[in-house]
Amino acid sequence: MKERILNLLRESENQYVSGQNISEKLGVSRAAIWKHITALKEEGYEIDSISRKGYMLIGSPDILTYGEVSKNLHTSFIGRKILYFDSIDSTNKKAKELAFQGEQEGTLVVSEEQTMGRGRLGRSWSSPKKKGIWMSLILRPQVEPEHISKITLLGAAAIATALEEMNADVKIKWPNDITLQDKKLCGILTEMSGELNEINYVVMGMGINVNADEEDFPMELKTKATSLKACYGKDFDRKELLARIMNNFEELYQEFIQERSIETTIKICKEKSVLLGKDVRIIRRGNERAVTAVDINQQGELIVKNEQGELERIISGEVSVRGLYGYI
Ligand code: BTN
Repeated sequence: MKERILNLLRESENQYVSGQNISEKLGVSRAAIWKHITALKEEGYEIDSISRKGYMLIGSPDILTYGEVSKNLHTSFIGRKILYFDSIDSTNKKAKELAFQGEQEGTLVVSEEQTMGRGRLGRSWSSPKKKGIWMSLILRPQVEPEHISKITLLGAAAIATALEEMNADVKIKWPNDITLQDKKLCGILTEMSGELNEINYVVMGMGINVNADEEDFPMELKTKATSLKACYGKDFDRKELLARIMNNFEELYQEFIQERSIETTIKICKEKSVLLGKDVRIIRRGNERAVTAVDINQQGELIVKNEQGELERIISGEVSVRGLYGYI
């Protein structure tokens, strides 16, 4: 009922809606409406009430619920169901549990904070409350397991495009990071459950540092990580960014599933690549070697030139790529 009252207020933007009107439309008593309005105010909605005129929505809280995100969402199934948490250990962990229990494709798990956010290679992921977007998308792609690493590239391309649409000058660090001014802005952790030739589900976890201040980053990350706010000195709209990511991802995912193509994704990853043309280090199980990154092929593999001048294909997931002297 609370959600329905909120929708009525949203529909009548900048206008008062009378208690009588709400009561007739939704079949609830005036006293019940008052109770729900009070609850909405406690959640952070600014609602003006004037006797004889009714209620008007003045402002909405900065929260990533479906009600708040859906205004900008144009997808048919990606992000059409959002499971929202104020705090959780890890959205990837939750999404995997739900996927195991049969949760449908496209469901998104979002939390305002994570108490045990996880990064790649067993690292932890700092996820302070309302400072970023911490979310995990459940997918059930009907493709062979060897194509799974491509999903991370789709995610990177969708996030980078959404950030560009919001005027952030980001780059993609193949295969799973987004960078801003040579620091890490976003990481993707894709996890899969499946058999040798069949996928049960994929969970793509995305962590984006949006409105974190310098002091929100743990000491050891200050030189390596950044946020949109730290870089541009202003807050970014998290709801709009989340919706744009879902919109872009659905388009790229449809191309991948229906046409078995990641052409658009590769084009974006190449155009925005921070690695191509650079001398980088490839780290595989602790062993490091210097190469030059030269291309990303149609399979989404990184093509590098080794010290002997030969070209090699690097498959994502098996290596870490770093700049010669630091993160890039
Ligand atoms: C990395 O760069 O190491 C990947 C980081 C992925 C972080 C996200 S935040 C939402 C989701 N839940 C997690 O526990 N991790 C991912």
